[in-house]
Amino acid sequence: MARGNTQAAGKLAIVIMAAGKGTRFKSARAKVLHQIGGKPLLAHVIAAAQQVVPAHHIHVIIGHQAEQVRAAVAHTGVQFVMQPEQRGTGHAIMCAREQVQGYDNLLVLSGDVPLIRPETITRVRDFHFNRKAAMTILTAEPPEPFGYGRVIRATSRSDQVKAIVEQKALSKSQQKTREINSGIYAFAAKPLFANIDRLTTDNAHREFYLTDMAALLVKSRAKVVALKADDPAEVLGANTLAELAALDSELRARKCRQLMAEGVSIYGPETCVIDSDVQVGPDTVIEPFVQLLGRTKIGSECRIRSFSVISDSELGDKVLVRPGCIIDQSRILAGALLGPYSHLRPESEVGEGAHVGNFVETKKARLGRGSKANHLTYLGDADIGEGVNVGAGTITCNYDGKAKHRTTIENGAFIGSDSTLVAPVRIGRDAYVAAGSTITEDVPENALALGRSRQTTKEGWAKARRENKR
Ligand code: UD1
Ligand code: CA
Repeated sequence: MARGNTQAAGKLAIVIMAAGKGTRFKSARAKVLHQIGGKPLLAHVIAAAQQVVPAHHIHVIIGHQAEQVRAAVAHTGVQFVMQPEQRGTGHAIMCAREQVQGYDNLLVLSGDVPLIRPETITRVRDFHFNRKAAMTILTAEPPEPFGYGRVIRATSRSDQVKAIVEQKALSKSQQKTREINSGIYAFAAKPLFANIDRLTTDNAHREFYLTDMAALLVKSRAKVVALKADDPAEVLGANTLAELAALDSELRARKCRQLMAEGVSIYGPETCVIDSDVQVGPDTVIEPFVQLLGRTKIGSECRIRSFSVISDSELGDKVLVRPGCIIDQSRILAGALLGPYSHLRPESEVGEGAHVGNFVETKKARLGRGSKANHLTYLGDADIGEGVNVGAGTITCNYDGKAKHRTTIENGAFIGSDSTLVAPVRIGRDAYVAAGSTITEDVPENALALGRSRQTTKEGWAKARRENKR
């Protein structure tokens, strides 16, 4: 992709308008901080912009909840512009004037139009240069144009534009116009800033509309052109939470298509929730109703069975996740086998070929290569070596009511079923713990530890009881 400022472009900046409140969301949170695909709307727009120019040439206009918005995306290295009062999209660009008027051209994006692809941004840029335009408007013909500004072309066959008319100001005949303004534009900086003070607030919302620049520039005999997006879904905006949900579905469908194109099998992709930044290797199979969230990274030839939710975790190759697992901030090495119904809480690590089975919960626990904890077990704050067998119902008692303590189980140890290991405690290499033990003292290597009372058996007791009743 053509990155950076091309020769023809002169100096090029991207400006992202993100200062608005998003009144129609009826939410206390700024609109651009609402998430789709697991990240804020604005983060998607910035990610696309960064594929076109480096971050220090991206200027984000902030205002409503400015500090939260800034904090959410500051790590990207973009620049910020304050729009202290939100008096419209035209006013937003007026506020950016000082910071961006040194550029030759500006690409203007909207913080609430998040599905825009970098390829389309570069198409707008290149079209703008080739047509030597003062303003280029990216347009689309979505199935439902209601609510958007409409683009009025000079003639139906011309790419020259006369004006953009907002929904509320459309005349009867203009209402038939299906071509909408996407809120994405390219401007030559000179004519833009030479005319921007001529914007007025003479409209339904008493705001300065950036869209009015089209007619103003035409009046000053500058060239204003329209370029239609191939896929209208790419330029849909979110003005309501219902529209936000539609964008989220669209983004996730796009993500599934991308993964499938890369060799991942997804059954019932419409039932899966896969965040934008998730990575999955080829020949992995994802069954219906799986969620892969955050920065999750999955290797190749894995199988993720239904109803598993995996967040911010890393899975090696050939891992099998049986149904109903919850895996959070954990690392699973190649060939491991999880579930059904395992709960891996943060900082768990499952070694190569290790098994974590039915109703096993782990937290800050590391299981070495080939170790097994297959049934009904809690492993918290535990370091478990290689080839260890943890019997059904084993519990590490890691909390004494004040502090957490660690349990260490060395290579080859065998923990009999229903044992409680009271931390801090260490089970030595190849040692055995008898079933039903409560272990409070370290067990040396190769030892057998029994931590239970002796069984007493009373011969004939049951029979005597029955006869006594009669
Ligand atoms: C805008 C366009 C409309 C277009 C639509 C596409 C105007 C007047 N209308 O309408 O033609 O079809 O986008 O989605 O521009 N913002 C600021 N400061 C402000 C006001 C808005 O930064 O003072 C930001 C918002 O945060 C948002 C973007 O600009 O990210 C667009 O604003 P919004 O109010 O959503 O405009 P629309 O009514 O959708
Ligand atoms: Ca909008």
